[in-house]
Amino acid sequence: MSEITETVPFPQDRTCPYHPPTAYAPFREHRPLSRVTLYDGREVWVVTGRDTARKLLSDKRLSSRRDHPHLPITTPRLAANVDRRPALLGVDDPEHGVQRRLVIPSFSVKRMAELRPRIQETVDRLLDAMVEQGPPAELVESFALPVPSMVICALLGVPYEDHDFFESASRRLLRGPLPEDSRQAADQLEDYFRTLVAHKRKHPGDGLLDDLVQQRLPGTGTGDSGLSAAEEREAVEELISLATILLVAGHETTANMISLGTYTLLQHPERLAELRADESLLPAVVEELLRYLSIADGMLRVATDDIDVDGTVIRADEGVIFSTSVINRDPDAFADPDTLDWQRSARHHVAFGFGIHQCLGQNLARAEMEIALGSLLRRLPGLRLAVPAEEVPFKPGDTIQGLTELPLTW
Ligand code: HEM
Repeated sequence: MSEITETVPFPQDRTCPYHPPTAYAPFREHRPLSRVTLYDGREVWVVTGRDTARKLLSDKRLSSRRDHPHLPITTPRLAANVDRRPALLGVDDPEHGVQRRLVIPSFSVKRMAELRPRIQETVDRLLDAMVEQGPPAELVESFALPVPSMVICALLGVPYEDHDFFESASRRLLRGPLPEDSRQAADQLEDYFRTLVAHKRKHPGDGLLDDLVQQRLPGTGTGDSGLSAAEEREAVEELISLATILLVAGHETTANMISLGTYTLLQHPERLAELRADESLLPAVVEELLRYLSIADGMLRVATDDIDVDGTVIRADEGVIFSTSVINRDPDAFADPDTLDWQRSARHHVAFGFGIHQCLGQNLARAEMEIALGSLLRRLPGLRLAVPAEEVPFKPGDTIQGLTELPLTW
């Protein structure tokens, strides 16, 4: 490994919505590890090599605990919520394993296959409405956001009528202009789920959240859980936290992949023609788009012990960030990595993370992307941008990557 001499501010904005920020170029010289400076002046490690990333993401000496005092904090927004401990993503084993076992059966490949007809129905309905209104259309609002939003609502048992509220709260949580906006949005989501959990205890439905309420709060419907007041409070807090992460992660991420994926395909007309000619390519296209776009760029960890990485030592309490956009362009793992090419095998990318926190919703996200992109292209053969490509607005670097709007015509 060449000596690391400079640090780069992290995160930074992309200059093209589907390429890593050009300011991350120095990382390419120093794979698999570099140094970055965070907004609060702290210097931490950034992992940029694919094999090292997979090794470290499986290493128990890296903690994901949101309440660890040395976890790297990348934005003032995150700092404003640092006293919260999100379920799953914010805890380590064994607590993590207990939570994950509660929800994993609902996200199996089999369950997702069963869900496909429902996703298709949702997609078709939204496309019908778009076609009926006629071109142009703004894809984020009319399609990319409602598809995953409706699907995760159905899966969890959250009323879709509340989507204006929770989409806006998620947006403020993930990219509110001020840290206080983000904190207030988290409080509002918490209040929302507190009321919903209380309602579901009295009136159980058939969503995942209803199942979880029944498991964690036995005696549902009778008002008598048989738990002590403290146990009951703890169970309710855990349910609220689980519901929040599932709802927020369940719609914001996939929505970005659908809109940015569409834009990227339109910017690669030869590739798009190839896909239009052979729909069986869709699963490979989705996998390559996941690698290429790497929308969740910056997984956060802190070392709990010294870790030797090929002679470089990450010391206990040092922060470690995984830049998925750079890792997924590692030329040792992906030949010609800056080219969009689904003939390659993109399978071992880290767009969904790796190790115990690897994305719980990945099978759902893949199904949604395949159905949404496939149906959109089939239904609208003349699909194209309604504005010059440079005018399409995209999100800043300090949040999940994607487009804020995508004006299209056909
Ligand atoms: C294409 C869309 C998606 C992308 C790119 C994505 C990306 C990721 C990444 C990178 C992680 C790991 C974070 C880390 O290790 O620090 C993660 C975890 C997670 N994702 Fe996703 N995600 C997507 C869709 C979804 C969906 C649809 C759900 C629905 C429930 C979901 C739920 C979760 C949860 C609950 C975790 C935490 C898992 C754990 O800690 O055990 N994600 N996701």
